[in-house]
Amino acid sequence: MKVPGPPRISVFRDEDAMAQALTTRIAAAIAANPAIVLGLATGRTPIRFYHQFASLVEQGRVDLSQASTFNLDEFLALPCDHPGSFRSFMDTHLFGRVNLAAERIHFLDGTARDTEQECERYEREIVAAGGIDIQILGVGTNGHIGFNEPAPALEPRAHRVTLAQETREANAGLFGNDPSRVPTEALSMGMATILHARSIVLLASGASKSVVIERAVRGPITPELPVSFLQLHHDVEIMVDEAAASRL
Ligand code: GLP
Repeated sequence: MKVPGPPRISVFRDEDAMAQALTTRIAAAIAANPAIVLGLATGRTPIRFYHQFASLVEQGRVDLSQASTFNLDEFLALPCDHPGSFRSFMDTHLFGRVNLAAERIHFLDGTARDTEQECERYEREIVAAGGIDIQILGVGTNGHIGFNEPAPALEPRAHRVTLAQETREANAGLFGNDPSRVPTEALSMGMATILHARSIVLLASGASKSVVIERAVRGPITPELPVSFLQLHHDVEIMVDEAAASRL
């Protein structure tokens, strides 16, 4: 029996090497299980991975025709074709280039009139798909994963969330670099949704992530640093470049 240990930490020379290693890992997982269910993240960090991975699919070396995806989160009240939506981000960086079946791409709908029902629908769809096999995560400098922001308590399941100012600033790139245009709310998978994935890969790059990575690995488990909850999972790999690993 496998004894749960601390998260595995893999340090890479740079972001390209990190993206390459993740591409190799995910391609192998799909070869072993073509009907894989992937949990996907947005943000700057996974972009290189999505590009390298999409190239493999375009070359016919990976087949996504049986695979399903569930994205972590979406801004509230943005239509999916709004250029700032996470759905547009995914269309640009991955979905527009690969052979995923449209009906197996899953997203929280930020325009749903009843957000509670929408969150319940999403949780049910994850269960109906058989659960998430590999969840890819980035991390905010404040320790958020998905849009689970630091708070006195965390929500276990998909929920509506008010974004921290720091998070809105970090996402301003999608909104003409104007933080005031970033929606104030979002829908996000919850902490239990994330922790129920069979395996988790957390990506972080750059010196600005070094403190949060150190605290994620060495600090106490606290809702004030949502990423610290990954210490509770039995199969987590933290992939970092040398800059993000500089305090480990
Ligand atoms: C957003 C996303 C997170 C992501 C974070 C980090 O807030 N909701 O899922 O991890 O950005 O972004 P970046 O990779 O750009 O640092």
